[in-house]
Amino acid sequence: MAYAAFRSIGAYAPQKILTNQELSDMVDTSDEWITKRTGILERRIAAKDEKNSDMGAKAAEIALQRSGIAKEDIDLVICGTISPDYFCMPSTATIIAKKVGIKGAMAFDISAACTGFIYSLSIARAFIESGMKKNVLVIGSEKLSSITDYTDRGTCILFGDGAGAAVICATQNKEEAIVDINTGADGEYADLLMTPNGGSGSAHDALEKETAGCYMQMKGNETFKIAVRTLTNDVKDILEKNNIKSEDVQHFVPHQANLRIIKAVGDALKMREDQVVLTVAKYGNTSGASIPMAINDLYEADGLKKGELMLLDAFGGGLTWGSALIPFSPLK
Ligand code: UT7
Repeated sequence: MAYAAFRSIGAYAPQKILTNQELSDMVDTSDEWITKRTGILERRIAAKDEKNSDMGAKAAEIALQRSGIAKEDIDLVICGTISPDYFCMPSTATIIAKKVGIKGAMAFDISAACTGFIYSLSIARAFIESGMKKNVLVIGSEKLSSITDYTDRGTCILFGDGAGAAVICATQNKEEAIVDINTGADGEYADLLMTPNGGSGSAHDALEKETAGCYMQMKGNETFKIAVRTLTNDVKDILEKNNIKSEDVQHFVPHQANLRIIKAVGDALKMREDQVVLTVAKYGNTSGASIPMAINDLYEADGLKKGELMLLDAFGGGLTWGSALIPFSPLK
C-alpha cells in the first residue's frame, strides 16, 4: 500500500504592508483595539495587477524546488482558495499549473475557506493512498483583499493576502507518512461567514454584483465562540484517536485567524508556548494560505526538522473545520 509523505513547503507574501495605523485612518478602529482583540499588527496586500495565481505559482515554485521532485512528475494540482482569479472557471489550480510549467496533470480548486489547505491535504492523501496519483502539489492561495470590504471594521482589520504550497508524495515507508486528517462541515451555520452576492444562489442584479454583497461578511463573535469549541474538540479527538499526547507534538500550526482563538485552543491542549507557531501578527488571516505560510516561516527559521510531528488545525466559512497530524518528511 502507498502512504502519503509531506515532502516540502514553500510560500510567498506580497511586498505591500498594511498596518493597523493605516486601517485606523480608513475605518473607526485603533491599533490598540486590533492588537488586543486579534493579535494582528499588520498584513500583506497584493499589488493591483498581482493575481492569486501569481502568488500561488511563486509559492509552488519554491515548494517544488525544495521537494526534489521534477515538475513533470506532478500528477495532481489542488488549490484551496475562496478568492480565485476567476469565479466559476477556469480554476486557479489550472492557471498555477500552467505558470509553473506542469502540463496535463489533473488540477482543481477546493472551496473550504480557511480549512482549504487541510481539505486539500486530505484529498491529496486519498488520491495517493488509493494509488491513483503519486506526486501532488497542494496550494493554499488567497487574494482576500479583492473580496474585503474596506468600510467594514468587523472584517477589514483581519484579512491579508499570500500563498503557501506543499508537495505530497507516495511512499512505502509508513514512518514518514501523514498520520491522520480530520475534516468536518456544518451548513447550518452557513450565514456566519459568507459573500452573499455574485453566485447563482442570490437574487441579484448586475448593479448589486458590484456592491458590498460580493465582499466577505462575518458574524465575528458567534464565529469566534464556535471556532474555539469546535477546534478544541477536533484537536483533542485526533490526538486521542492516534494515541498521541500534546507534548509529543513538536509544532502546533493552527490557522492564523485570531491570537485569542489560538491561545484558547493551545491552553485547552496544554501546549507550551514554544510548540505554537504564530504568524498572525505579521500576516493576519490569509484563510487557506495561513497554515502553509506558517509552516514555511518555521522552515525558513530553521525550526522544522526531518521527522518532527506537526499538528495542524483550521476553522472557517461553511462552516468547515479540520485537523491533521503530519511528520515533516523531506527527501533530503
Ligand atoms: O478565519 C475564519 C474564521 N474567522 C474567525 O475565526 C474570526 C472570529 N472572530 C473574531 O476574530 C472576533 O470576533 C473579531 C476580532 C472579529 C471581533 O472581536 P470580538 O471580541 O468578538 O468583538 P465583538 O464583535 O463582540 O465586538 C465588540 C465591540 C462592539 O462594540 P459594542 O457593541 O460593544 O459597542 C463592536 O462594534 O467591538 C466593536 N468592534 C470594533 N471596535 C473597534 C468591532 N470591530 C471593531 C474594530 N475596532 N475593528
